Amino acid sequence: MELRHLRYFVAVAEERNFTRAAQRLHIAQPPLSRQIQQLEESLGVQLFERNSRPLKLTETGKFFYSHAVQLLAQTSELESMTRRVGNIERSMSVGFVASTLYGLLPKIIRRFRDENPTVELSLHEMSTTDQIRALKDGRIDVGFGRIRLEDANIRRVVLREEKMIVAFPLGHPLALSKPVSALRDLVNETLIVYPKTPRPSYADQVLAAFQDRGLKPRKVYEVREIQIALGLVAAGEGISIVPSSVHGLKREDVSYKDLDDPTLVSPIIMSTRMLDESRDIREMLELIYRLYEEEKIQHTPRPEEEH
Ligand code: BEZ
Repeated sequence: MELRHLRYFVAVAEERNFTRAAQRLHIAQPPLSRQIQQLEESLGVQLFERNSRPLKLTETGKFFYSHAVQLLAQTSELESMTRRVGNIERSMSVGFVASTLYGLLPKIIRRFRDENPTVELSLHEMSTTDQIRALKDGRIDVGFGRIRLEDANIRRVVLREEKMIVAFPLGHPLALSKPVSALRDLVNETLIVYPKTPRPSYADQVLAAFQDRGLKPRKVYEVREIQIALGLVAAGEGISIVPSSVHGLKREDVSYKDLDDPTLVSPIIMSTRMLDESRDIREMLELIYRLYEEEKIQHTPRPEEEH
């Protein structure tokens, strides 16, 4: 029995008439009748009641029909899945820290997908530290993070240095009084930092900013992630220092202020496996610099092409 027999049988069973089934299958009626006869002979059963008009399935025919329909549906799924697998020439897994979602990451991903429709792209939220492990394990191909972690097997490209800003609860006196904030004015506040683990993390960049200036916040509150930090700011639990792109996340209960010191920055770093020169990674980097130019976003100089 071949798939062709199933298709012919299903057509006859559904049309209940050989002439209409032959038209639907774009074949002549005599060969169709022969094929059905062959099928009944090879199975050693009768699928249609003899001399019934319109054609009626026997009980065995009904049983065979329901299985034949399922089998044909499965083969059609197999066809489309195989075509899709064949068309996906490449795949790329991207690790990212949550705060990059407030920056250009969504635009980068959309643009990359538009320009590379046959690349299967997957996204995984993870800390910069976890990105290094995942790159080495082959679970991701590129990571976007904020921490400069030294590793001989990892290539880092600092894409840009993003300014840090302060998130105040709405109506906070410091948010109302001065146009810009200085870190020294914030030491009497509860400083909410994230992520608590793994360390080092963006939390350490913020704490180092105070320490480097000989300042010590009155109280530090460590939380798991940026959304929790902002939620607690909104609740009046303290203030938080966040990358400036978070400003785009408009919250009515949080007001953002620039800091007076241009050296207060957090880098956005692209990490890849050392010597991974794959076409997708090159295209991703090209696309990022193109977007920076289009959006007139200041960035660090492009790395020299390595040969
Ligand atoms: C950016 O905002 O510059 C950025 C975010 C994620 C990946 C790369 C760049």
